[in-house]
Amino acid sequence: MSQVYLNGQFVPPDQARVSVFDRGFIFGDGVYEVIPVFGGRLFRLAHHLSRLDASLAAIRLRNPHLTEEWKSIFTRLLTGHANGDQSIYLQITRGVAPRDHAFPPNATPTVFAYAQSLSYPPAEQLAQGVAAITTEDIRWRRCDIKSIALLANALLRQQAIEQRAAEAILIRDGVVTEGAASNIFIVKGDRLSTPPKGPFILPGITRDLIVEIACAKNIVCDELPIKAEMLQSADEVWLTSSIKEILPITRIDGKPVGKGKPGPMHARLFALYQEYKQAFIQGRAE
Ligand code: PDD
Repeated sequence: MSQVYLNGQFVPPDQARVSVFDRGFIFGDGVYEVIPVFGGRLFRLAHHLSRLDASLAAIRLRNPHLTEEWKSIFTRLLTGHANGDQSIYLQITRGVAPRDHAFPPNATPTVFAYAQSLSYPPAEQLAQGVAAITTEDIRWRRCDIKSIALLANALLRQQAIEQRAAEAILIRDGVVTEGAASNIFIVKGDRLSTPPKGPFILPGITRDLIVEIACAKNIVCDELPIKAEMLQSADEVWLTSSIKEILPITRIDGKPVGKGKPGPMHARLFALYQEYKQAFIQGRAE
């Protein structure tokens, strides 16, 4: 990583300095985005920036930059990077102030961003799928905010890793919400389902694109509550995110999902998703 962006400057990562009194450090008081970059183009940028606006509005911070300013920051971060796919991480905190829970009246938000190579799930995971556990969703009631306060998500993911699983599927009041860092889809017959948007899930950009692609191809895709027991009887279960794209989950809590291997609907949607990406790279899709 050659340079990172911090508060108006591009500096080598080891020269980027943030105060120990930054509210991001003290309270986790900030929001973030992860934007994939394919063929040098920022994928679904408008969607990511609109989710950023929603997160900022929810924590009552003003967006410090206009879209054009964000674009020029990202473009500069991406120069000098190899041609492969990249991702942009950006984070905005409420800034530096004496420690007090109440909002500081005059703090300037801290803005940080960097680019790094995207590392996709290994081919073996795509071919065989991954294991997941189910566990109680111990998070708060504003999971729609892309908050940097990810302690619960980190604990939940770690719980999965310690049980040799790749992801934790979270259950709140008997229904599936999402993964520790992903959205969840199930397939039953020729129907796709994913939990509805609301305060208990992050409105994933990948999730929305899959719903959009499914609709365009006349594949039924319900956005309805998924009861935990529906995971057991599903033919296929997937996790989705900007980084993992669409990854089949083939074991849940030690039991096989469907036939225990990635299914035909995954193959279809994965191919359509890759087709969409190619069209995007060639400037034929946004
Ligand atoms: N996380 N739900 C949660 C809790 C997430 O953290 C993520 C992504 C998603 C999927 O959202 P999207 O499709 O927009 O990537 C859903 C990112 C990648 C991260 O924290 O690194």
